[in-house]
Amino acid sequence: MIDAMDARRSIRKFCATPIPRQDLIEILRSGMKAPSPKNRQPWKYIVVEGDAKAEMLRVFRAGIAREQAEGALLPQSKKHIAAANYTVDSMAEAPVVVFVVNPLGKDVSEGLTPEEHVYEICNIQSIGASIENMLLCATEKGIGSLWICDIYFAYQALCEWLCSEGQLVAAIALGYPNESPKARPRKRLEDVVSWRS
Ligand SMILES: Cc1cc2nc3c(=O)[nH]c(=O)nc-3n(C[C@H](O)[C@H](O)[C@H](O)COP(=O)(O)O)c2cc1C
Repeated sequence: MIDAMDARRSIRKFCATPIPRQDLIEILRSGMKAPSPKNRQPWKYIVVEGDAKAEMLRVFRAGIAREQAEGALLPQSKKHIAAANYTVDSMAEAPVVVFVVNPLGKDVSEGLTPEEHVYEICNIQSIGASIENMLLCATEKGIGSLWICDIYFAYQALCEWLCSEGQLVAAIALGYPNESPKARPRKRLEDVVSWRS
């Protein structure tokens, strides 16, 4: 597991080689093994491949164009739209994209009470753990992955297309890597850790 943690990279170039179904199921099962508050297991995974993936990419690109042109969900983040288009290009190369939905989540535009906010934060922590489990499991199988939140640049369009109850949280692109990026830099331990004794 520690080897997988060291070896994992965000992969943005993929081979077309399909992922064996059993490997994909093991990756999804590893996501389901994550801990969660009160064991709520606040996740649903929507696996998109083949013709459905081509359709999803069209919806994604149209959603980004709409975000750029009118009534943006993230008006202060327009400078990141070019990067979102690049993310979609990476998704186009990946044979599989998994969308991760929080079935207990509220609409992103909804105001939350502090209690609802805490409930949501706790659920989302476990979704993060679930996604990381899947990335590490994929790495161990030699399968590359990209954790994707650029979905928020086409949020409405993707939610409508997925037709899923709950809150869309992230997507994961999966496929055999067609690049071997070096480890990206991390902050120094002393910059992020403080000790109290
Ligand atoms: C919550 C989250 C969202 C991310 N969203 C995207 C994304 O939409 N597009 C992308 O190319 N990378 C995305 N990334 C990947 C990060 O850019 C990447 O993890 C970071 O640069 C460190 O690189 P590494 O994963 O290779 O260590 C995301 C990562 C996380 C954890």
